[in-house]
Amino acid sequence: MTAPGADGFVDRFGLECPVVQAGMGGGVAGDALAGAVSAAGGLGTVGMMAPRVFSEALRKASRRAAGRPVAANLLVPFIRQAHVDACVEANVALVVLHGGISPRWIARLRRRGLTVFVTVGTPEEAIRGLACGADGLVLQGSEAGGHLLGVEPIERALPGVLDVAGDAPVLAAGGVADAQDVRRLLDMGATAAVAGTRFLLTEESAAHPEYKRRVVGAERTLLTLLFGLGWPLRHRVIPSAATERWCVHSELGPRIGRVSGRLSAPLGRLAPLDAMGRLVALQRPGLPFFTPALPLAGMPENTVDRAALYAGETTRRLHDVIPAAQAVARLTPT
Ligand SMILES: Cc1cc2nc3c(=O)[nH]c(=O)nc-3n(C[C@H](O)[C@H](O)[C@H](O)COP(=O)(O)O)c2cc1C
Repeated sequence: MTAPGADGFVDRFGLECPVVQAGMGGGVAGDALAGAVSAAGGLGTVGMMAPRVFSEALRKASRRAAGRPVAANLLVPFIRQAHVDACVEANVALVVLHGGISPRWIARLRRRGLTVFVTVGTPEEAIRGLACGADGLVLQGSEAGGHLLGVEPIERALPGVLDVAGDAPVLAAGGVADAQDVRRLLDMGATAAVAGTRFLLTEESAAHPEYKRRVVGAERTLLTLLFGLGWPLRHRVIPSAATERWCVHSELGPRIGRVSGRLSAPLGRLAPLDAMGRLVALQRPGLPFFTPALPLAGMPENTVDRAALYAGETTRRLHDVIPAAQAVARLTPT
């Protein structure tokens, strides 16, 4: 399958709104959110989960989307062949990879006829991603919430990546809260905009209600390595008891937490993805060992102070939890 060129992305997927809902892993972006976004005319994305649940969520999301396309997000260190099979069976429109540029997984997904975009933060990564066979790119700006590859604000980073991308489509992620943000990125040359935090704050996202409530009221975010057990990556989060305890001297968190993150990286790759979710119950704000798992609806309320509360800098401009279809409408440029 060939990649849609920059102009063809919206047409090829029949989108009414040039906005992709970010695939938020661990269950936050499940079938309810992805299906509702696609049904409303954006491109909904099911975030990564353990293969069986992921496969079921993709099937249900497609049903909810009523014939419109649905995308899938995969975090490279945790991909298993069963995730690839699930994407093929569900006939997803697009697979977005995050957390590494893996020629092996790009090739395996493309060999099965899937369109693959890789998430990057710099022109160098963009060149590498395309050289490894990716059909397109998601460029993440440093204001983005969650797992962070971005090193510069999106509007500063975009021109350099567009320069090296040639005809390949570039989706722009980070700082997208309303239709003006989307319009600005499109005018700069992005193929579409990607929004995460806006969709975290929807009725359909499976984040814990107290987590959503705190994001709505948050005045600042931090860039930290505190939540790196099993997968040491920078994350943008809002403050919590865990960050108040461990990120006072440095936002990145204490040295012991960073070292344990690095040392535990191989374990993260070997353990099934849902093991991270189960470890959350053992985390304590007083101990600097936190996995990247986030608090989901149905978990005990005290999980919110023990887990990563991912959110981007748009938290300052997002003041409500709304239906996903309304979020798509608010992001649609006129
Ligand atoms: C709660 C949350 C979870 C996220 N999880 C993932 C993920 O699993 N995979 C991924 O590619 N990006 C993930 N991201 C990052 C998004 O893909 C995207 O880059 C980011 O949300 C864009 O910035 P914004 O939050 O300002 O819209 C996550 C973001 C948030 C807020």
